[in-house]
Amino acid sequence: MFDRFNRKLNYLRISVTDRCNLRCTYCMPEQGIRLFRHEDILSFDEIAGFTKTAVSNGVTKVRITGGEPLVRKGITVLVSMISEIKGIEDLSMTTNGTLLKQYAQELRTAGLHRVNISLDTIDREKFRAVTRTGDLNDVFEGINAAKNAGLFPVKINCVIKDSKDEEQARAVTGFCKDNDLEIRYIRQMDLVMGHFSIVDGGIGGDCLLCNRLRLTSNGKLKPCLFSNIEFDIRQLGFEKAIQLAAELKPECGSKNETGTFYNIGG
Ligand code: 5AD
Ligand code: SF4
Repeated sequence: MFDRFNRKLNYLRISVTDRCNLRCTYCMPEQGIRLFRHEDILSFDEIAGFTKTAVSNGVTKVRITGGEPLVRKGITVLVSMISEIKGIEDLSMTTNGTLLKQYAQELRTAGLHRVNISLDTIDREKFRAVTRTGDLNDVFEGINAAKNAGLFPVKINCVIKDSKDEEQARAVTGFCKDNDLEIRYIRQMDLVMGHFSIVDGGIGGDCLLCNRLRLTSNGKLKPCLFSNIEFDIRQLGFEKAIQLAAELKPECGSKNETGTFYNIGG
């Protein structure tokens, strides 16, 4: 499927929950986090059904995100439902890694191909400061579990303020070199202010090349992270929502005042 600007839309990012077991300062406010109501969250059948429709419209790449996808109950069942859909060439997950020790092997068995793990620092105290609640050791164990399970290539998402030469980022770069991990540097963004930029090491953030659609866990299909435009897949039906999203995908992002990183999934 192509949009008005002849961009091929072949990549679907699915946020399976807006909940997270961490509280990263750049992602979640300390208090007053507004979460979706449980009854509004899509069921596994709805997510898999929608994905099937998206694949029949040309999607070949699917990423499962959150919040933190591994806090969604039964996540490995959902992964196997999605991995059974014929036509998905690349099935990945973005996770904070803290629960991978527990889930990596099951995820691989369920048909997940690979993971991106968020890691902004390799300093225990700084990690605790960024995530407010996290234990860096859980992430290290998660990274090892992902490698042992064969979720290759294991990629690291490193959020930076301005440049990959910042002290934290350099340390993460070294860690990745030593441990056979690919790294992507993601500049800290602001949805409301419309601050976004190209992901160093990936293709995210370049409107000209954008091939993405995003599904939130309460069933809104968003053609652009930096736009308020969204289509309710329950109200419109899967096919119609996809057609509208493709037709009305903005040429370039501007601002998003309706969503947040933790409920769209970045
Ligand atoms: N800017 C850039 N990336 C962000 N993420 C969360 N909030 C932001 C932000 N403000 C990223 C995390 C993770 C994914 C869930 O989204 O680093 O990789
Ligand atoms: Fe959770 Fe990821 Fe947001 Fe951190 S960035 S609070 S790990 S969803």
